[in-house]
Amino acid sequence: MTVRRPAPSEPPVDLYGRRRPDRAMRVFHAVAETRFRWTTLINRKDPAGRVDDRRLDLTVVQRRVEAHDTDVVSLLLAAPDGRALPPWRPGAHLDVELPSGRLRQYSLCGDPADRHGYRIAVRRIPGGGGGSREVHDALRIGSRVTVRGPRNAFPFVPPGYGSDSARVHFVAGGIGVTPILPMVRMAHRLGIDWSMVYAGRSRDTLPFLDEIDSFGGRVTVRTDDEHGLPIAADLLPGVGPDTAVYCCGPVPMTALVAEGVRTLPGVELHSERFSAPPVVDGKPFTIELARTGEVIEVPADRSALEEVLAVRPDTAYSCRQGFCRTCAVRVLSGVVDHRDTVLTPEERADGELLICVSRCAGERLVLDL
Ligand code: FES
Repeated sequence: MTVRRPAPSEPPVDLYGRRRPDRAMRVFHAVAETRFRWTTLINRKDPAGRVDDRRLDLTVVQRRVEAHDTDVVSLLLAAPDGRALPPWRPGAHLDVELPSGRLRQYSLCGDPADRHGYRIAVRRIPGGGGGSREVHDALRIGSRVTVRGPRNAFPFVPPGYGSDSARVHFVAGGIGVTPILPMVRMAHRLGIDWSMVYAGRSRDTLPFLDEIDSFGGRVTVRTDDEHGLPIAADLLPGVGPDTAVYCCGPVPMTALVAEGVRTLPGVELHSERFSAPPVVDGKPFTIELARTGEVIEVPADRSALEEVLAVRPDTAYSCRQGFCRTCAVRVLSGVVDHRDTVLTPEERADGELLICVSRCAGERLVLDL
């Protein structure tokens, strides 16, 4: 007996043995396949995904201007041999080693289902630490960069996949859209109930506006030039109990959203900022740099890193929020007020200090610098 095998291009039989499923079955298959592909990217017990610390040498294969007014470019990074890259989940970032040796972190803003390219976007910050300038000026198509990660400090947990919330509201400000964009894409594909406010000075300043606009009526674009400066209610329209809010943007905007959420019972807030947090309950102290004997005064409202950078501009740093370890130094004497989120008790006992957030619990620290 000859068994006829279907040609590779032939569709599989449906539940009723029909080789050409009707429209309802085709829609069912498409939805099921999409849902399966996306749910395999989610792990209820580990929404951030595996921490991947291996170094990858990648090539810039695409460079696009995403917003002229705010000078945002996106780069697509791929393996030189085209192999698949380690998986990631919405909210993840890469540590990017720039040609100068500077280390900077950038959110992944592409599609997690695409395993052959990591997309990042960078806004040029005039007068910043030089990392964004370097990305804009030195990285072109064909440039090689080394990255570490992806790592996830801002994981998205959708309703039904580990979150008790029934719906999600996203708030993004300007370049803060980068970690939010993959979350929106995932929420949309999973068919969960979501909404979004995308805010900025004007439409010209907003990167990826065409991609965000493609999600239609769930998104409200709110710009200062058309609508005036927002208040918290403008950023949280219709947000009520059982909503999870994911927010990323400049400090004033994330502060406004946090203030608004505090007045809304039953709303949980997940936020990520792109700059150093303000110093809370800071007291002034003195730092002595042991290798040169220089003495630096750190005011109550400034970080040790800011003051060290003023005399040592080459000091390494990245996140400025106490989680990447780039700014770690050794304390030779003094009592530390540790404010980071990553050092273990052993590392602290060993004299490790993250100068971007941690301070002195007394009056003077002597650092091995
Ligand atoms: S710069 Fe990241 S921990 Fe200090």
